[in-house]
Amino acid sequence: MQSTHEFIAAHKDRFLAELLDLLRIPSVSADPAYAGDVRKAAEWVAANLRAAGADHVRLEETPGYPIVYGEKMVDPAAPTVLVYGHYDVQPADPLELWDNPPFEPVIKNEVIYARGACDDKGQVFMHLKAFEAMLASENLPCNVKFMIEGEEEVGSDNLGNFVAANKDLLKADVILISDTAIIANDIPSIDVGLRGLSYMEVEVQGPNRDLHSGVYGGAVANPITILCQMISSMHDEFNHITIPGFYDGVMEVSAADRASMAQTPFDLDAYQKDLGIDTVHGEKGYTTLERASIRPTLDVNGIWGGYTGEGAKTVLPSKAYAKISMRLVPNQSSAEITRLFTEHFKAIAPKGVKVKVMAHHGGEGYLMPTDSIAFKAASDAMATTFGKEPVPTRGGGSIPIVALFEKELGVKSILMGFGLDSDAIHSPNEHYGLFNFYKGIETIPHFFQNFAALSK
Ligand code: BES
Ligand code: MN
Ligand code: MN
Repeated sequence: MQSTHEFIAAHKDRFLAELLDLLRIPSVSADPAYAGDVRKAAEWVAANLRAAGADHVRLEETPGYPIVYGEKMVDPAAPTVLVYGHYDVQPADPLELWDNPPFEPVIKNEVIYARGACDDKGQVFMHLKAFEAMLASENLPCNVKFMIEGEEEVGSDNLGNFVAANKDLLKADVILISDTAIIANDIPSIDVGLRGLSYMEVEVQGPNRDLHSGVYGGAVANPITILCQMISSMHDEFNHITIPGFYDGVMEVSAADRASMAQTPFDLDAYQKDLGIDTVHGEKGYTTLERASIRPTLDVNGIWGGYTGEGAKTVLPSKAYAKISMRLVPNQSSAEITRLFTEHFKAIAPKGVKVKVMAHHGGEGYLMPTDSIAFKAASDAMATTFGKEPVPTRGGGSIPIVALFEKELGVKSILMGFGLDSDAIHSPNEHYGLFNFYKGIETIPHFFQNFAALSK
């Protein structure tokens, strides 16, 4: 019989061909036009999981998109690993900025280009293939459960209910997730923290209808101008957020932890060059890495109103809108921040406009202790396959369901991701390196081995 490693080597090309098939399904959860494709992706994942050898594979229906569930229980005495990931992807637009169509994957210089290549189809798929390889080589030392959802990119609204209603089904000793990044291909790392999120939408209304900007301009408040002023007032000269109470819950990081963070390899020049910027920008008193991980933020994600079509139309608009997100750190409560934002935004609205504030999804941040056997299992697994101990890092992104898993199931999550920050997730030309894809498939079985051994 082949070893797990030999099985992976022998089936490498097929694994990749299968991933490309999955990437061809445009499972954009945010856009109802793709509803059929999102479901198709769920069915595809279920079929692949079944073919890999999982039992009881099924689509768990929700009021939204289905959750793919499957399991392999090898031994009641063995520990259970719950693998979580998502098969939905972000919208691909702006389409014109892609060098290749987002749902027609291509491989260039050992890199797969497609929407979802890294976030998260490519990373979820590593787990399916590592599982297949462990099973085929009779080397699966843990029970495993898969829960792959289709609404992560739109806030996982239905997963929370599913988890709360299926605590027995989802009973596990650890949750294993590959949906984050490493520092570089020669600097492995494990995220031990995630940020929370409050996502808001605001509307500012001036006059009751669009007006001629010559006839009325200068005499009536322009809601776009007012909205811009309100938004810019929410940061002070030090780039602190001015919403009263915003920082009250913030967990401050100790000087010792900040000193050790400062040891994390980071190349500011390369960072700026990659982004095409000549300087970084952010909260005074914090480094770039800190600003993007241990500090809360407020960002405008989109702003619109008035005339944005071809040519010029002279108009003083009736309404202006913006979508504003706040990244939160552990101990800040998303519900509380949503409340504070709403109050503040209403309070700063000048006379002459009416404002509406609406909350989209949110979620709490997360911290993973590094003294657990699960962390050690992941760390040792990466040390084996990368030949280097991974660096513990704090991630800036959000996977709100991770805090919920802990609350509902009492189970911690390990964020053993294999992407790179430069993989352009959520951007045009998203990509995922073949190195990363295969490294993940190779590393996951080591996690299972280590976790089983350390659980004894
Ligand atoms: N995989 C990302 C989260 C992520 C990316 C964590 C990089 C750490 C590093 C996930 O799919 C995502 O995009 N999450 C959303 C939150 C969600 C509520 C829409 C995010 O962070 O914007
Ligand atoms: Mn993701
Ligand atoms: Mn994402």
